[in-house]
Amino acid sequence: MTDVLPSAVEAIGATPVVRLDRITRGLDGTILAKLDYLNPGGSKKDRVARRIIEEAERVGALKPSQPVVELTSGNTGTGLAIVCGVKGHPFTAVMSRGNSRERARMMAALGAEVVLVDQMPGSIPGRVAGGDLELVEAKARELTAARGAFRADQFHHDGNWLAHRDGTGEELWQQTGGAIDGFADFLGSGGTYAGVTKALKGHDPAIRCFAVEPAGAAVLAGQPVRNPGHPIQGGGYSMSDLAYLRDVPIDGFVQVTGEEAKRAARRLATEEGIFGGFSSGANLAAALQLLQGEMRGRTLAVVMADSGLKYLSTDLWPEC
Ligand SMILES: Cc1ncc(COP(=O)(O)O)c(C=O)c1O
Repeated sequence: MTDVLPSAVEAIGATPVVRLDRITRGLDGTILAKLDYLNPGGSKKDRVARRIIEEAERVGALKPSQPVVELTSGNTGTGLAIVCGVKGHPFTAVMSRGNSRERARMMAALGAEVVLVDQMPGSIPGRVAGGDLELVEAKARELTAARGAFRADQFHHDGNWLAHRDGTGEELWQQTGGAIDGFADFLGSGGTYAGVTKALKGHDPAIRCFAVEPAGAAVLAGQPVRNPGHPIQGGGYSMSDLAYLRDVPIDGFVQVTGEEAKRAARRLATEEGIFGGFSSGANLAAALQLLQGEMRGRTLAVVMADSGLKYLSTDLWPEC
């Protein structure tokens, strides 16, 4: 029974890394994809949920059976629903109605209470902007106070980037034997970018790390916001002051359009058998740009952040 895990929580992490040789055929260089959509909740955010809850329990910030509340675009909430369910904390997910319905239904199926918040007047369903997130944040604060809950706070809790430094980033280094020249990541909270960058540069400071943003909402690259309502769910919120980035270097910036992200996600599915979502596509599109530009001939790593199953109700996949 040595391979038997005590719960689904221990099944989080240790995801495979795959070479995208079919997509890079004819190009000079290599793209490595870390398949984080294979986590129990279907996304990399399971890692964050586990680290935040276990850290909070360890320091006594979260008491046995105390409720947990969090703002989510669905993935952190799904991770929290799993971790809180196993550990016995009632969990309330607060999410914008602009995120795909699969996410709300999955969290509810996993035992979470799901509170959906209307988007700002004029916002487009499927395109969650920073202003929409502010409304969700206000609701999350109200519910946290009303319930006497622990707020997981994925935009500020150190458990977020630490999960990616000690998990995602360290695994990438070990699994590749350090044979990585660059890393590119589409940012939401910036936890993945910060954690993986710290892990990789901690081993080899010459590894170049690139921040991926939606075209038209590339605030980190210092560009004006022309299109906050892009379709790449999970990030690109036009926030220029992400807490996790304060002491983390960014070696370069890449912009990806919604259409490029979708095309790349579809290529991942049809050519590589990798069923990721919009941001997985954004990361691949960015890596392809880099491989045809300043990172020609190099090896780039990207994270496949969540499962394509979470977007069956969207235009990412064809109707049949
Ligand atoms: C699908 C997806 N992609 C990308 C991100 C952004 O990751 P991070 O918050 O670590 O920057 C998230 C975050 O929720 C996500 O759910």
